[in-house]
Amino acid sequence: MKGWRGVIEQYRAFLPVTAKTPVVTLFEGNTPLVPAPRLAEATDARLSVYLKCEGFNPTGSFKDRGMTMAVSKALESGSRAVICASTGNTSASAAAFAARAQIRAFVMVPRGAIALGKLSQAAIHGARVLTVEGNFDQALAIVRQIAETHPVTLVNSVNPFRLEGQKTAAFEIVDQLGRAPDYHLIPVGNAGNITAYWRGYREYHRAGLARELPRMVGFQAAGAAPIYENRVIEEPRTIATAIKIGNPANWGPALEAVKDSRGWVDIVTDEEILGAYRMLAREEGIFMEPASAATVAGLIKSVKAGRFEPGSTLVLTLTGHGLKDPDTALESASRPTTVPARLDAVLAQLGL
Ligand code: F0G
Repeated sequence: MKGWRGVIEQYRAFLPVTAKTPVVTLFEGNTPLVPAPRLAEATDARLSVYLKCEGFNPTGSFKDRGMTMAVSKALESGSRAVICASTGNTSASAAAFAARAQIRAFVMVPRGAIALGKLSQAAIHGARVLTVEGNFDQALAIVRQIAETHPVTLVNSVNPFRLEGQKTAAFEIVDQLGRAPDYHLIPVGNAGNITAYWRGYREYHRAGLARELPRMVGFQAAGAAPIYENRVIEEPRTIATAIKIGNPANWGPALEAVKDSRGWVDIVTDEEILGAYRMLAREEGIFMEPASAATVAGLIKSVKAGRFEPGSTLVLTLTGHGLKDPDTALESASRPTTVPARLDAVLAQLGL
């Protein structure tokens, strides 16, 4: 078979797999890197801005890159079940890849704090879904304990294979752009992705495939910003439910990525996130979920603060598709108008 066959086949030489690893894939990866001219124009026309649209992965988020690795390795080790806590996307991806591998998936999500699309994905793929009366951090603590004492494989990003798979996004960016960007902007929740990207960029650099290394810039929601505030947030709050996390599992490695790359971590408010969310949809035609828009909000804030040298190339990771969270979209836009089925009534509404 010709063409793209998923991130493991594409980047096998950089991944801990052997000929014996049973590759479980949905042909994830190969997502578009889309130029964002209007975003650049609206912020600083002297910047080149690109969007890595990870919402176009098979289950609608970047998680598929890590999940193909985690589930393949789980299968290789003889495991017949996976478990995770999730703000939604990890659970959707785990459920899909477990279905593909024909093993069981157990997922725990915080009750009332997960977008509708994500919940429906986990359900339709046949996962056992528990909604927890608590937050993500509490759910993660529970599944970690279960995985230690029961024959189930933990597929949160504390599973090292998750980050191995996720680092392929950095490889793709270099392959698509022909170089590493000067800055890489990314939302931060459990802090796995920023860690994985930095690893990917460094590995490509070491292999002589990228001459440059980007500065890693992470954005947290203002009400859920443990890394920025340097303290655990007991009750994180934000409209961007995907990154509503108060005690990230990859806190240390993420900080290292930021320090090693001479980057920074900043916060954006829910208002800024929603403004960026609408702007991205209306000005660039790209519909991503609120957590992804945190990156765009971060771009706007950082440009205002004069943090990028003119002429810089920036890549922004847009982590999850907008269709994951239709409720927030409808609340953020004008509602449809109901009209009688008559030409004159329709024309009157359209103002034509
Ligand atoms: N954006 C989206 C859409 C996410 O779903 C997540 C994390 C992040 C950003 C943050 O990435 O955790 O690697 O720093 N979602 C996890 C989940 C926590 O359960 O789906 P991170």
